Order: sequence, then C-alpha cells, then structure tokens
Amino acid sequence: MKHVFAAALLCAAVAAPSFAQEIKIGYALAEDSHYGAGAKAFEASLKESLGDQFSFRHFPSSGLGGEREVLEGLQLGTVEMTIASDGTLTNFVPEVGVLGVPFLLRDKDHARKVLDGEIGQEMLAKFEPAGLHALAWGEQGFRHITSNRGAVEAPSDLNGLKIRTMENPVHIEAFRALGAAPTPMAWPEVIGALEQGAIDGQENPLSVIVSAKLNEVQKYLTLDGHVYSSTIILVSPALWNGLDDAQKAAFEKAAKDAVVAMRAYVDEVDASGVAAMKDAGMQVNELSPEQKAAFREALAGPYQQYEAQFGKELMDRIQAVE
Ligand code: PAF
Repeated sequence: MKHVFAAALLCAAVAAPSFAQEIKIGYALAEDSHYGAGAKAFEASLKESLGDQFSFRHFPSSGLGGEREVLEGLQLGTVEMTIASDGTLTNFVPEVGVLGVPFLLRDKDHARKVLDGEIGQEMLAKFEPAGLHALAWGEQGFRHITSNRGAVEAPSDLNGLKIRTMENPVHIEAFRALGAAPTPMAWPEVIGALEQGAIDGQENPLSVIVSAKLNEVQKYLTLDGHVYSSTIILVSPALWNGLDDAQKAAFEKAAKDAVVAMRAYVDEVDASGVAAMKDAGMQVNELSPEQKAAFREALAGPYQQYEAQFGKELMDRIQAVE
C-alpha cells in the first residue's frame, strides 16, 4: 500500500504542470528588423534546447523605453533581456567606445573577427562588474548619414548640420570636428524630431534606415560608412545567476544563433537596402575613396584624443586583426 501511495505521488509530481519562466526582451526597433531577427532566433534556439522552460514576451520598437532605460532595467532585475547598440553601452562600459572610433574597423569581416576574437571577448567580460551579463556581439552594419539639407560629399557639407548622434562621446566629438552641430538624443525621440525639423539629419546603418523607414522623414542618404555599429545581446544578472549549467550553455548557444541571424539580416539589407531606399524616393550618393580620405583627414585631431583615451596599444591591436 505504501508503495502504491509513493508511486501515485511520483506520477502526480511528473504530471504537474511546470510553469515557464517569462523573459521580457526589450529592443529599439521593429520585430521585422535585425533586432527582431536576433530576438526571434534566440527564442527559437532556446526552445529547441530547453523545451518550454522559458517563455518570451517581446517589447520591440522601444516598448520598454530607450536603450539606456532598458539596460537600467536589466541592472535592477525588472527586465530580463535586451539587444542594445554599442553607442548606448559605452555609457555602461566606457572601453566599448573604442569601437565607435570612425574608420577604425575596415569592413564587416574585420569587425566580426575583432568581436569574435580575443578583444571582443575581453570587452564582453567587462559587463559583469557593470551589473550586466553580456552574451555575444550582434551587428547593425556600417553607419551612413541621412539628411534633409542635401547630399554630403565633403566635410564642408556638414557645416552647422544639426545631426542626431547616439549618446556616445566618441561620435559627438567626431561630428563636432567635422563642423556639424551634433545633437545627442535617445532613439525614441528621433523620428519625431526629424518630422518636426528640430534636427536636419541622423546617422545609422542601412539595417536601421530601412527597417525604421527613415525614407519617410529623410530625403538624402550619403553612403559614407563612417563607423561600424555593433550591438550586444545581454541578460540581467538576476536571470543569469539563477540558471543551472545546462541552461547557461543553452543561453550561450542561443546567443550565437541570434548573432548568425542578425548578421544574415545585415548582409541582406546591405545588398538590397540602397535600391529599396531609391525606390522609396531617397536621393542616394556614395563617397568615393578620395572623398572618404578627406573625412579621415578632418578627423586627425580627434584621433589623437581617442588614442590617449583608449590607448594606442588597443587601437593598434584592433587594426592588426586580419
Ligand atoms: O541610433 C541608435 O540609437 C541605434 O543605432 C538604434 C537605432 C537605437 C539601434 O540600436
């Protein structure tokens, strides 16, 4: 009788409904953006590894606020997960700012090697003491300038241009040196500010320009690729520290799968985005190597400052990655 009772208890325990732990994931762009692609790939991968242990609630399009607020939510444990740009993350781990140095990363292949290699992994580790757990580097692509004032062909075309930048001191300094009037602003305010003419332009990769339909509020697109824009997939320490080893391994695999999805999205939009924006009425120009050289020259002053700030050794190490 005792055995029958114990067996019944065991069956009841096995059959008891197990409740999935909810993960609120907030990100700045729409579900059909590279952020959405990464978030959905993460969710699918985790489900494949862990079944129904976790459920996801997506808050796209800044549904939980700007990137800074969402990251603060992760630190407090009120939000479990996000994908956020290096521009915002610079305010949490200042060393990340080196990636925002214009023209430092040569192309996507170089950027991916730096981020997947020793330098990128060393930087991810710096998030733990900042109260965040960084899983992997995602991607946005190279940033370009959009404006309503005219095409940009030379640094002089930026004179006095009210250009929205991320809240990233490195970018602010660079645009100031180029003669523009950089206006740092959180992303959720940008479309409204462009609509109202409070700013003339902004800068973002094609992944953002296309998915956020910036053609509806901007007339000119200059393909200058002044800086590579990365993102990081992060979880709250409250979530991370509660996971067992198998779950941690599944989260790390899911982050890798999310990176693959984000990079595929960026490759696709880099190939098709210019035509899409031209069809949508934007006037597009691409800087020639000689035109780009004039921008590099104009940035010589800030470059010395960046070397002093981040260390010449680190900048040389980044450039030496093949
Ligand atoms: O420009 C920015 O703030 C970022 O690139 C964005 C659009 C929020 C994506 O992280």
